[in-house]
Amino acid sequence: MTVTLILGLQWGDEGKGKIVDLLAGDYDYIVRFNGGDNAGHTVKKGDEEFKLHLVPSGVFYPEKMKVIANGTVVNLDTLVGEMEEAEKRGYHMKNLILSSCAHIILPWHRMMDGGLDKVGKIGTTKKGIGPAYSDKASRTFALRAGDLLLPEDELKKKMALIASHKKKIFKALELPEFDEAAITAKTIENAKKVRSHIADTQALLNNALDGGKSMLFEGAHGSLLDIDHGTFPYVTSSNTISGGGCTGAGIPPQSIRRVIGIAKAYTTRVGEGPFPTELDDAVGEKLREKGHEFGTTTGRPRRCGWLDLVLLKYTCMINGVTDIAFTKLDVLDGLEELKVCTAYELDGKRITDFPPDSHRLSRVKPVYESLPGWEEDISGAKKREDLPEAAKKYIEFVEKQLGIPLKIISVGPKREETI
Ligand code: GDP
Ligand code: IMO
Ligand code: MG
Repeated sequence: MTVTLILGLQWGDEGKGKIVDLLAGDYDYIVRFNGGDNAGHTVKKGDEEFKLHLVPSGVFYPEKMKVIANGTVVNLDTLVGEMEEAEKRGYHMKNLILSSCAHIILPWHRMMDGGLDKVGKIGTTKKGIGPAYSDKASRTFALRAGDLLLPEDELKKKMALIASHKKKIFKALELPEFDEAAITAKTIENAKKVRSHIADTQALLNNALDGGKSMLFEGAHGSLLDIDHGTFPYVTSSNTISGGGCTGAGIPPQSIRRVIGIAKAYTTRVGEGPFPTELDDAVGEKLREKGHEFGTTTGRPRRCGWLDLVLLKYTCMINGVTDIAFTKLDVLDGLEELKVCTAYELDGKRITDFPPDSHRLSRVKPVYESLPGWEEDISGAKKREDLPEAAKKYIEFVEKQLGIPLKIISVGPKREETI
């Protein structure tokens, strides 16, 4: 029984979609275990592209089992829309399974997210992620995918109970009214479309593992957006680290044999929160333009900065990363000098342990080592030897500092642009 887990080592958008698509051919199951449609994963095959928010990044492989497991929160409009789009483009969704224990995001969650984020600004995607996970933790007023299998009158009764509670909260918070009848009708319509895909995925996944099937787990977001280990409160509401794969899918830890951490060759972040190596200058702008660093889900410009090894050592540690996929190296083409952060200064002291707390992190000053850049376009490189000396040195430096092999190096968005 083998699970390979893929996850982001920074603040998201590391190129997880590309790497999942690249490796999906070797696995029987592709599994999403956390988050919702706040994720935006890009997959490309030739000139064809999907920007996926819920459907696992194995979309180009209709024959593979694709599972949205219990740890996720699901916006049914997004799910139905993505399934219909994939079907329309010739990729059938017969093998998509939604866990009966996944939680459903409803319009009142999105409205609340939009309303509350104006107050204590985190810069969320406004997809209702925090409010939906809050309802999961509070239990009484949550709706799960399994509830969509209830007889229609029972589902309506359940939704009416939740809606009456939400109305009281909306009134107290002075949020706009919502249309309960329309929300209920749409949920029932969506339920009819997804019902045949709902299953108890704990047994399904474990039986498949026992039967020798292989699985690729597709983490969403990035390790520093983890609700426990990230830069709280500027995080998302799920466990994005490797441990989240066990709780989010109900598989035993010993089944995870390989943890592939995806690290971008520089650093980006969307939304608020501390970012020690952020660049507010022409280099930051160049990275944003060349790397097309605009949010896949919200279109917001991503904040850009130098590679931060203090941060990466921390996320490799908490995830048990066995190998790294180093992405977007081509975006560094044409930079004369490359800076890499190897330590922080905090209150006059040099530290190398990442402080997992926004207050301290916002006060650190990065300590940089400088490496030479390269002029060449590296997007055609197929093996390490094809790279200019300076690019090889940059990779070797990162590998040595982290003590983990960079097994995959990505030099462009397409499958074939990979070493
Ligand atoms: P994810 O959320 O981690 O799946 O990443 P996103 O899809 O949100 O953002 C990554 C973006 O970079 C997408 O537009 C990808 O097509 C693109 N991309 C992935 N790998 C590379 C690469 O090696 N080089 C370049 N230039 N673009 C890449
Ligand atoms: P992928 O899977 C980048 C960020 C948001 C915000 C914070 C909380 O594509 O890498 P939320 O809506 O989750 O409550 O927002 O987390 N965020 C992401 N940033 N990539 C993502 O996903 C993200 N998912 C959430 O920008 O700062
Ligand atoms: Mg993304």
